Amino acid sequence: MKIPRHVAIIMDGNGRWAQQRGLPRISGHKAGVETVRAAVEQSVRSGIEVLTLFAFSSENWRRPPTEVRLLMDLFMMALNREVKRLKRNDVKLRIIGDSTAFSDKLQQRIVEVQQMTADCQGLTLQIAANYGGRWDVVQAARRISEKVEAGLIRTEEITEEAVSRQLSTGGFPDPDLFIRTGGEQRLSNFLLWQSAYAEIYFTDTLWPDFNEKAFEQALESFAGRQRRFGRTSEQARLEDNGEMDQPV
Ligand code: IPE
Ligand code: IPE
Ligand code: MG
Repeated sequence: MKIPRHVAIIMDGNGRWAQQRGLPRISGHKAGVETVRAAVEQSVRSGIEVLTLFAFSSENWRRPPTEVRLLMDLFMMALNREVKRLKRNDVKLRIIGDSTAFSDKLQQRIVEVQQMTADCQGLTLQIAANYGGRWDVVQAARRISEKVEAGLIRTEEITEEAVSRQLSTGGFPDPDLFIRTGGEQRLSNFLLWQSAYAEIYFTDTLWPDFNEKAFEQALESFAGRQRRFGRTSEQARLEDNGEMDQPV
C-alpha cells in the first residue's frame, strides 16, 4: 500500500465527545491524549516519516480562560509523561507555533523535550501549539526580509523553496495526507502553505474515537487516490508507474 510520507491531522471533536457522555470538555481532551499516543505508535509501525498534529490553534485563545488553562496544564503533563516513550520509539519531537505566548515554565519544557529526542531517527512528531498557518507565513516573511536587509540574499532569490525553508516545517516534506476528525469540513488555519497539494480526508469520527481502524481507513483512502499535480490522469498513471521516458 502507498504510504504518505507526511500526515497532518486536525484533532477535532474532543469537546463533543465529552458532552455526549455528560462529562466536562476537559475529559474529552484527556481522552484525546490517549488517541495521540496510539496514533503516534501506529504511524511508527506504518513507516510514516512525519506526523503533524494540531493541538492548539492561534484562535483557541478565544475559549473560556479555564479551558485554555486546563489545556496548557494537559500539554505540560503530556510532554512530561510521554517523552520517555517517544525516545524509546525513536520519535523526534518538534513543537511548532508561536511558543513565546506560553508560560516560561512551558517554554523551557518545550526546549528540553526537543533536546531529549533530538538524536532520534525514526518518526518526526510535530505538535502544532499556538500555531496558525497565516502566522507561519508572516514569520517566514519576516525572516526572509531580515536576510534581505542584511544583504545575505537578493529579492530575486525569494523563491517558493526559499519561503518553504523558512516556515516552521522547513526542511520537512509537505503533508501528503491531511485529516480532519470531528465532522467539520474546514482548514481552520492549519498548514495553509504546506497543504497546497495535500489529499484531504474528512471524517465524522470524533478525535477520541479515532482508533487504529479509523486511521487505517484514512490511509487506505489515500492509497486509492491518484495524485495528478496538474497533469492528466493518463500522464500521472504512466509517470507514477515509471513507464514514461519523457514527459508528454
Ligand atoms: C479539538 O477538540 C481540540 C482543541 C481545539 C484543543 P475541540 O475542543 O475543538 O472539540 P469540539 O469541536 O468542541 O467537539
Ligand atoms: C482546530 O479546531 C484546532 C485544533 C484542533 C487544535 P477548532 O475546533 O478550534 O476549530 P474551529 O474553531 O471549529 O474552526
Ligand atoms: Mg472543535
